[in-house]
Amino acid sequence: MKILGLSCSPRKSGNTTILVNEALDGAQKEGAEIELFSLSGKEIKPCDGCQACVNTGKCHIKDDMQTLYQKLIEADGIIFGTPVYFYAMASQAKAVIDRTYALRRPTFRLVNKVGGVITVAGSLGRIDVLKDLYFNIAINHMIPADYIAATASEKGAIKSDEKTMKMAWELGREMAQLVKVGFEFPSEFRGRLSNYVTAKYKL
Ligand SMILES: Cc1cc2nc3c(=O)[nH]c(=O)nc-3n(C[C@H](O)[C@H](O)[C@H](O)COP(=O)(O)O)c2cc1C
Repeated sequence: MKILGLSCSPRKSGNTTILVNEALDGAQKEGAEIELFSLSGKEIKPCDGCQACVNTGKCHIKDDMQTLYQKLIEADGIIFGTPVYFYAMASQAKAVIDRTYALRRPTFRLVNKVGGVITVAGSLGRIDVLKDLYFNIAINHMIPADYIAATASEKGAIKSDEKTMKMAWELGREMAQLVKVGFEFPSEFRGRLSNYVTAKYKL
């Protein structure tokens, strides 16, 4: 069982990464093989909308997303972590999500993976990010786990928030347990709606 922790903060060892790491620690306690993928120092270019992936399932843009694609495919559970930037997810997180278009076409490849969400704001905007990240989990037919909506501004400040740190650790444990339960979408519904509708209307 593999749990991947994706931290989309460009700030090295910032609050998002700290919480994602804490969740990974909890997942490891439940027997998961864990890995952190921090976007700090990495290059993920925006989707250019070429739509070639609709037929090939591959993205032509050569950057760190190519490594991340493989890790996302191999994971049984994925933690999406991002800071709040201007009442939305950081642009680094949005770039990753847009690029996962290539993992939805021609077939869904994130289906049945357990998805957890972590977001950190100085004060406002967390609900907007939660909403967007959970919708992304839903449209990929992933299995939703819990979320952490944390408040912290200065780098590393989240460490002194004992309750939130503990909740993040428990999120990781919960995700590993959910993977073990093995919920699955019925095979007929592993595209957009049923296979029949997906094929007929090219959804
Ligand atoms: C460009 C930028 C935009 C931000 N926008 C918001 C915001 O809209 N609302 C908020 O509460 N905090 C905002 N913040 C504060 C960060 O969410 C906060 O510092 C968070 O702890 C950063 O997480 P990190 O340490 O993982 O990078 C912003 C920070 C930056 C750098």
